[in-house]
Amino acid sequence: MDINGKIYKDFLNRIERFKVQNDPDKIKKQHAKGKLHARERIALLFDKDSFEELDAFVTSATPDTGFGKIDEAFGDGVVIGHGRINGRLVYIYSQDFNVMGGSLGTVHAKKIIKIQDLALRVGAPIIGLIDSGGARIQEGVASLSGYASIFHRNIQSSGVIPQISVILGPAAGGAVYSPALTDFVFMAKKTSYMFVTGPNVVKEVLNEEVSFEELGGAEVHARKSGVANFIYEDEENALLGVKKILSFFPSNNLENPPYIDTNTKRDKNIDKLRAIVPDDPNKPYDVKKVIELIIDTESFFEVSEHFAPNLVIGFARLNGKAIGVVANQPKVLAGVLDINSSLKGARFIRFCDSFNIPILTLEDVPGFLPGLDQEHSGIIKHGAKLLFAYSEASVPKITVIMRKSYGGAFCVMNSKNIGGDYNFAWPTAEIAVMGPEGAVSILYKKELQNAEDPEKLKKEFATRYRQEVANPYIADEKGYIDEVIDPADTRKKLITAFETLENKHVDQPARKHGNIPL
Ligand code: HXC
Repeated sequence: MDINGKIYKDFLNRIERFKVQNDPDKIKKQHAKGKLHARERIALLFDKDSFEELDAFVTSATPDTGFGKIDEAFGDGVVIGHGRINGRLVYIYSQDFNVMGGSLGTVHAKKIIKIQDLALRVGAPIIGLIDSGGARIQEGVASLSGYASIFHRNIQSSGVIPQISVILGPAAGGAVYSPALTDFVFMAKKTSYMFVTGPNVVKEVLNEEVSFEELGGAEVHARKSGVANFIYEDEENALLGVKKILSFFPSNNLENPPYIDTNTKRDKNIDKLRAIVPDDPNKPYDVKKVIELIIDTESFFEVSEHFAPNLVIGFARLNGKAIGVVANQPKVLAGVLDINSSLKGARFIRFCDSFNIPILTLEDVPGFLPGLDQEHSGIIKHGAKLLFAYSEASVPKITVIMRKSYGGAFCVMNSKNIGGDYNFAWPTAEIAVMGPEGAVSILYKKELQNAEDPEKLKKEFATRYRQEVANPYIADEKGYIDEVIDPADTRKKLITAFETLENKHVDQPARKHGNIPL
């Protein structure tokens, strides 16, 4: 081709026209809001020069009906393509708020669908960077249809490739449901919000004044709704978080998670663990300290830190291999299981199971939270989700009972009977049908009623119960757990135990799918 000829010049002209999308004024507009441009975000996320854009030149199909403004920029408000993150292939779409508010029209939707199809076909993770006013109003039902097709692909891809959504601006209307269907939602504080209907509609329908932040800001979704798994001060840190979480995942459900040498001694004896559980059973401690001591140095990546903090979940490495950790947190509500923590745990376990990530359970749970509110809100069906998820999971599953393991919680937290591969307990473990106080109140009702000092007698009974009934040795002797171990040996024991499970295989009964109590 003659580089002075017309064909080449036409080609160059087209590229010049394309640059309109990177208009510095529009980029400045984003920066003024504390946000980055769609392409800047991609550049931050991917390995240098690895991003390949697709469909950069497509034009909008929004009909000019005279209703609403139409932006003529190429690409229809979304950048799509693939690149490498730490050398591994990842697909992405990144919405450009500068083009009709990042709203989703026919062509915009087609581009996202293209990238979803490719990611699924190839077996690589997909990331959506969301900055969108939702369905493009000018395109009517075509936009709704676009969203429905995207949702369908989210669901088809669920459990096959990891899907991550990062909310970096508005996610309004239809824009919220794709993230909700993906595995993890990241949000940047102050600049991102998610809602099905915005403050204006809330005002019109309910006559309630509410700000964007109050309705669907990052804090709200991290702490109250649980929709956001991660919140960060700014976009840069949110994108770093995405890179980090991907390092724990395989590219798809047929692969194992990548091994990373963490330079941590395998046979660490952890004396400190002997002192962590207080002798007083009512004294709290921080289970995150236990996690940090057992796993490879600084490898814990907590998920949903602010939602239901009575259960701690997250990814970690044990001897370089990725694991999922589920741990009751005695520091919050005594580590009790309630509706939110059951939902949190169940979804995490299902993710780990989908992507071949073994699960470590650290147990110290007094039971399910009693009370009208929990019962009326459905603790029965929500608690059952956790039970279902544990029981259904066929990845290697190990439990360490650190202290309390009472009642239904014993069964739920990966007991041997629902498929725990190895169940260890520390000498401090208390395993029984219910806690000492509750048990003696039932068993010695009459004696306590007739006692001169019922409180004193109750204490005596409870101490006896704790020593004689609620200890780990009965469970060990009867085979309900595998071994009572020295806490200091926990890391060694776990590494060896997980190694034995590397080729674990479970034949599941043939069925379309189970019916988890939703
Ligand atoms: C077309 C849109 C748009 C939309 C925003 N824009 N949302 N264009 N369709 N859905 C355009 C605006 O007209 C404006 O164009 C530009 O994007 C920037 O918007 P602003 O309002 O100026 O920005 P800002 O003040 O930052 O407010 C952002 C916003 C607001 C909060 C997202 O635009 C908004 O409330 N949009 C509508 C959100 C919504 O209700 N979506 C739901 C759609 S229904 P100009 O030309 O002025 O720059 C839906 C149902 C799907 O999604 C259901 C599937 C399950």
